[in-house]
Amino acid sequence: MRVIKIGLLGLGTVGASVIRILQKNKVAIEKKCGCSFEVIIACARDLEKARDCSLSGIILTTDPLEIVHHPEVEVVVELIGGTTIALGVLIEAIKNSKHVVTANKAVIALHGNELIETAKRNDVFLGFEAAIAGSIPVVKTLRESLAGNSIRKIVGIVNGTCNFMLSGMSESGYSFETILKEAQTLGYAEADPSFDVDGIDAGHKLAILASLAFGGAIQFEKVSIDGIREILVDDLVYANALGYKVKHLALAIKSTSGIELRVHPTLIPTGHILANIDGVLNAVLIDAEETGPLLLSGAGAGGDATASSVISDLVSLAAKPSQKQNIQRAEFQAKSDVSSEVNVLPIENIYSAYYLRIQALDKPGVLAEISQNLASSEVSIEAIRQQESHGDDGSVPIVIITGKITESAIANACKHIGNSDNVCGDIVRYRVESP
Ligand code: NDP
Ligand code: HSE
Repeated sequence: MRVIKIGLLGLGTVGASVIRILQKNKVAIEKKCGCSFEVIIACARDLEKARDCSLSGIILTTDPLEIVHHPEVEVVVELIGGTTIALGVLIEAIKNSKHVVTANKAVIALHGNELIETAKRNDVFLGFEAAIAGSIPVVKTLRESLAGNSIRKIVGIVNGTCNFMLSGMSESGYSFETILKEAQTLGYAEADPSFDVDGIDAGHKLAILASLAFGGAIQFEKVSIDGIREILVDDLVYANALGYKVKHLALAIKSTSGIELRVHPTLIPTGHILANIDGVLNAVLIDAEETGPLLLSGAGAGGDATASSVISDLVSLAAKPSQKQNIQRAEFQAKSDVSSEVNVLPIENIYSAYYLRIQALDKPGVLAEISQNLASSEVSIEAIRQQESHGDDGSVPIVIITGKITESAIANACKHIGNSDNVCGDIVRYRVESP
């Protein structure tokens, strides 16, 4: 039986799960694939640290390059994360004719165009299924299953940490800090969790998804990104009372003039299919002309869930047993045309309804003043509620759902409202959509 020898970079949450699953399901995998996968060498920074898997028979090193240059390693699996060491070792591995598999969305979003071209030139497989939405096979779905379709839109909940946090804040009233700590303990968050809560991780994933769906280069720098850091438990309660749930969405929407690429908290109707994707679950809603909407959902983070996608890439790599066929396979996997660019539309011109939370003094005429300011910016009001809770200064939160308006127009309206002496602090605004 063919044995595919793996060099594993990283023995953390995902790395340890890859070893554990390959060992636990060895017989079943061999039966299904007709070949065997064996981790022969692995690296970590601290070789004394206890690992959540058996390392028996695996050579251990602290030097990633030792793995890349190991003559018996056929595929390098990169699970270190970040963009410095990871990029260098991936490029070195590819140039050394090793196939590569990674769960690292940051490196693919920022350097994927270069990596794809280099993999193409060197006829090696570059797999990154695990980089997007944990366990969900969305890369394969877009590349293969939906290759014959014209995709109109992708809307995703693609960051498990954010979704877990919003669910915990909404269902149990946990504070932002408490629930973030829990997400970190469970292994969901990035090494630097600001990548999760500031929306950068979801932006990385969206840029990759858009390239797979619409073609052209990965354009992370064009994604408009807002995170969940400013969201209060109160916002979730107020939204709920108005019939909405707050979700951190990643949207790639195609029109005749280009594509929208945006990541932001969004109020969606409680009956929407994405509104009940809770906890660490992710979901990707793909709308294609031929199929209509298609929903993929599953665990979006965590060691075993992500390792499942890493192993799925290993199986794809192994699907063609001969060297020649392997090369054909590699060409298929790396065929994304990253040499062109799809036009990304400026966020300022995109229409949306908005949720506004305005902290204002509780005195006669203030509501009228706010309404007047919105009207003069041509913003209509769909719903308005003055909340009962008073701040120390006697101010109250006023919550408004607006009609549809452009980003630049609502920004302008909020600036006028914020200039009033009756308004305290910044105006909070989130989009309201039914995507
Ligand atoms: P961890 O931080 O748990 O693991 C990283 C591993 O890399 C550790 O074993 C660490 O060693 C090792 N490492 C770091 N720097 C070096 C270095 N310079 N030389 C050798 N080894 C090094 O990360 P995760 O497993 O959570 O994530 C890995 C990748 O998978 C990231 O790209 C992440 O974004 C991605 N991912 C993670 C998911 C998750 O749910 N956790 C889900 C989807 C993707 P040591 O243990 O000794 O510190
Ligand atoms: N930190 C990421 C998340 C890991 O929470 O979604 C999965 O990519």
